[in-house]
Amino acid sequence: MSNDEFPTDRPAVVTCGLPYANGDLHIGHLRGYIGADTFNRALGTLGQQSAYVCGSDMHGTPVAVNAEKEGIDPEEFALRWHEQYEETFPQFSVDFDNYGHTHDGTNTETTQEIVRTLEEEGHIYEKEIQVAYDPDADQYLPDRYVEGTCPYCGERARGDECDEGCQRHLEPGEVEDPHSSITGNVAEYRERAHKFFRVSEFEAFLTDFLDDLEGTSNARNQPRQWIEEGLQDWCITRDMDWGIDYPGEAADDLVLYVWVDAPIEYISSSKQYTDRVGKGEYDWEDVWRDDGEIVHVIGRDIIQHHTIFWPAMLEGAGYNTPRAVAATGFITINGKGLSTSRNRAIWAREYLAEGFHPDLLRYYLMTTGGLQQDVDFSWDAFQEKVNGELVGTVGNFLYRSLLFAYRNYEGTPEAEVSAEVEARIHDAIEEFRESVNDYSPRGVGGAMTRLAQFGNEYIQRNEPWKLTDEKSEAQRDSEKPSGDEPRGPEQAAQVIRDCVQIAKAVGVLLEPIAPGKAQALWEQLGEDGDVADARLEAALEAPPRNFEEPGELFEKIEDDRVAELETKLEAKIEAAAGDEETESDEADEAESDDMTDTDDLEPLLEDRISFDEFQELDIRVGRIERAEGIEGADELARLEVDIGLETRQVVAGIKQLHDLEELPGTKVVLLANMEPAELFGVESNGMVLAAGEQADLLTTHGDADPGEKVR
Ligand code: 2FM
Ligand code: ZN
Repeated sequence: MSNDEFPTDRPAVVTCGLPYANGDLHIGHLRGYIGADTFNRALGTLGQQSAYVCGSDMHGTPVAVNAEKEGIDPEEFALRWHEQYEETFPQFSVDFDNYGHTHDGTNTETTQEIVRTLEEEGHIYEKEIQVAYDPDADQYLPDRYVEGTCPYCGERARGDECDEGCQRHLEPGEVEDPHSSITGNVAEYRERAHKFFRVSEFEAFLTDFLDDLEGTSNARNQPRQWIEEGLQDWCITRDMDWGIDYPGEAADDLVLYVWVDAPIEYISSSKQYTDRVGKGEYDWEDVWRDDGEIVHVIGRDIIQHHTIFWPAMLEGAGYNTPRAVAATGFITINGKGLSTSRNRAIWAREYLAEGFHPDLLRYYLMTTGGLQQDVDFSWDAFQEKVNGELVGTVGNFLYRSLLFAYRNYEGTPEAEVSAEVEARIHDAIEEFRESVNDYSPRGVGGAMTRLAQFGNEYIQRNEPWKLTDEKSEAQRDSEKPSGDEPRGPEQAAQVIRDCVQIAKAVGVLLEPIAPGKAQALWEQLGEDGDVADARLEAALEAPPRNFEEPGELFEKIEDDRVAELETKLEAKIEAAAGDEETESDEADEAESDDMTDTDDLEPLLEDRISFDEFQELDIRVGRIERAEGIEGADELARLEVDIGLETRQVVAGIKQLHDLEELPGTKVVLLANMEPAELFGVESNGMVLAAGEQADLLTTHGDADPGEKVR
């Protein structure tokens, strides 16, 4: 791998975290797959050779437990979901070059080969550990088969992760008060020999690896902190039937932990792609064995697996290591955490059934926030985005320009593109290129939208409609805006020629985010072939001379449609909760919060401070990574807040006022140069700003990333 600017002369692979084959896809999933798809398409536009590969994550207890609940074989259960994903992804134009699954022959073979190599190289050892066991059911209880209490934060936790509390990865034997998640039986711990990967030996390698790693800052900062805390070796086997067998005789009753074979599918899927297209077109070995560019797009919750365990495995087995890990934020729905159990989600199939074009959601998800940021979805915000940017800016420019061109010139007028417009398109191309190199799909979309915005201003400023008619020269002169150049039909042709070029450039830049709409535009311009094959240079190449009457690319979403969708969403959440009282209590509370009387407000301070005094406050944007109650303190919570440059531990009086489980991912505002203090034995290193009786946490609403200063 390299840190050279894209495009490089080495092939790239773009991957996205594999979906567990255990349930329907929702917009939380789609954000990642569309993000990686957009990035991969944009690399193609730059001329970078690249493949986008992925596959279904078939193993592990997330699949086995759900299959058992349905009373079917895990393989049959997982394959059913796998087939559904194969159908759903293309419906959102998520265009994998290869989509495999972790249970197929290629992945089984590759996984066992890598584990064998790690063993031969001395990176694996055996150790006796305590494993949860259900004596009544006579079965071991790995990972999600066991539930109990997190030893770190005291929250309810699964066997391998504290999913409702501090989010830590938990090793077998760590969860306290273990119970079987299937039968509810109390579990006991039994001693058992398991295999361990010596992650701790890779500390120096990982430290250097993180220094070079590109992608999002959270994917570098979090693991640096874990390394500082001391790396622990990693248990890589489980007492289960469902999974890839540990290779060799020694451990023939153990399967590999799902997190071993899952990322290896990135390699296996690349191999399958090579097998299909031939080494001449794409050679997986150039990427994984040599020095290709490996880019992983993942969710923020699996940073540890991709920046610690995975690169250590690759290094230990003699493979190339990732160039970039881009970790996306979460999706919230109407300001609250997406929850599949509460049906607070927009399901992929449900979105399509509403009849919306997939590109609208693609554009919304890619441009509403930066990759690292949490993105809130509401039908209101969706409507605003579509009507404002896609209909109002992009669609409006394209339709008015192309219709004018068609009516007056039957297509592209014969003229050269003006220097002004050529320079503006160059700028948009540069903005696009930089955004790809910054791993910013939002920047990619912005380059396109801003160019269309320029197009609107340009046509408005030059008013070609006033130049093509039979008006006298004198009349036209009296109407011309700047008064320097003669204006007439020739100038009208020039302006429209420019606009058609801008439209073509918009098509090229739009493709990674909205491939379907970009193709429709391409065809409106009379272009042959596929816009996905166009390179950046095409943005400045002349469009065909003739084209047909254009149609409108985007359609406005009406208010009553949005109201209907919001009502549907609320109804399904309420139905899932089955507890209308709780909902209305919450609503009452919110209502009374809104009615703060000015008599209750503290009077304004008379004493003013200078700007310099304000500057002494180092106020930063932060993102809560962990939130847990402090034992013995009724009101205090311990927060870990990512402030870009580092992660701060902060104690805040919000334990009873906020649902701590929902806080990770929330952006906050933090006073970073507050004197450290110790509360209940916990050091607080900063102050999270909040307002009002309910400690309403201050946040930001745009693209400010953790670490940005509040000014
Ligand atoms: O967390 C998950 O949903 C996992 N299925 C992701 C696996 S990504 C990988 F490494 F393969
Ligand atoms: Zn915990």
